[in-house]
Amino acid sequence: MTDAPGAARDAYRPYRPHRLRTTRAMRRLVAETRLHPGDLVLPLFVKEGLDAPVPIKAMPGQVQHTEETLADAVRAAADAGVGGVMLFGIPAERDATGSAGDDPDGILQRALRASREVSDEALAAGGTGVVVMADTCLDEFTDHGHCGLLDEQGRVDNDATLERYASMAVAQATAGADVVAPSGMMDGQVEVIREALDRAGFTDVSVLAYSAKYASAFYGPFREAVDSALQGDRRTYQMDAGNLREGLREADLDLAEGADMVMVKPAGSYLDVLAAVAERSEVPVAAYQVSGEYAMIEAAAAHGWIDREAAIDESVLGIKRAGADVILTYWALEIAGRLTKGPR
Ligand code: PBG
Repeated sequence: MTDAPGAARDAYRPYRPHRLRTTRAMRRLVAETRLHPGDLVLPLFVKEGLDAPVPIKAMPGQVQHTEETLADAVRAAADAGVGGVMLFGIPAERDATGSAGDDPDGILQRALRASREVSDEALAAGGTGVVVMADTCLDEFTDHGHCGLLDEQGRVDNDATLERYASMAVAQATAGADVVAPSGMMDGQVEVIREALDRAGFTDVSVLAYSAKYASAFYGPFREAVDSALQGDRRTYQMDAGNLREGLREADLDLAEGADMVMVKPAGSYLDVLAAVAERSEVPVAAYQVSGEYAMIEAAAAHGWIDREAAIDESVLGIKRAGADVILTYWALEIAGRLTKGPR
């Protein structure tokens, strides 16, 4: 030791973290977090009156589906073992109250019936089926693009909106939704929806509450996806980006109102909120990797600035590691397809 002071000492290290990173098999064995296709939910857009799917420019690889291709997409998700689908409907006609939203023959209800059928077929064929979820919100259905009804001054009328949500939720459950997902951030929305579902006999239909939903620039591409007419912003009902404690309060309120699952949205810029909600929630926690998060990675990859698949997998794994049990991502199908290969 006295002859070679540095060398012998350097060769001996009591612990070498590198050992568990030596091979792909070893890395897979010791992975603390891993994705499973069953964790993932694929959001899908279906538009009334389309002859062919329409690509969404700001979301390369995603489309507004026809009713037919929507059913194909749900079938593909079921075949790939994806956990669920979240449906958004785009009606041919919009009005101030979003009438198409609870029309039994409205586009979203038709798509839900078709999806229910596809999932039941997958189950009958020996598969697991997919959980069929519906966005319970008015913004796709109103001509002004807000998530609720507007009062005389043009402000969102929280309490008047609640009745519309209750009616939508019942229409969605009637059409075959397993889960309704109120995303409009109206105060009290979970409670009125739960009551309405129970009164209509849908005691087994779950409520996935968008609890901590932030007013976010990352919803930008979604506007194109649903042909949104929104003027102004949603800051009077969605949350401010800087508020963590308030997000926890929102989650607590939704749990008290009977939410079966709570959600944090967007995901990537709110992982601390997600981790804190996951810490205190006694129900499953979902996170939504939103349209802008999708668009950023796709755009950078299209420029050759980033390794697309690695970036996608890392972004979604980070959401899982932060505490999400359920992850809504537009890459659900793609990720499910490569998950069996294990971590790199
Ligand atoms: C409301 C809703 C929105 C999204 C999901 N549900 C839009 C909004 O609140 O502005 C955004 C999802 C995304 O950006 O991917 N119906």
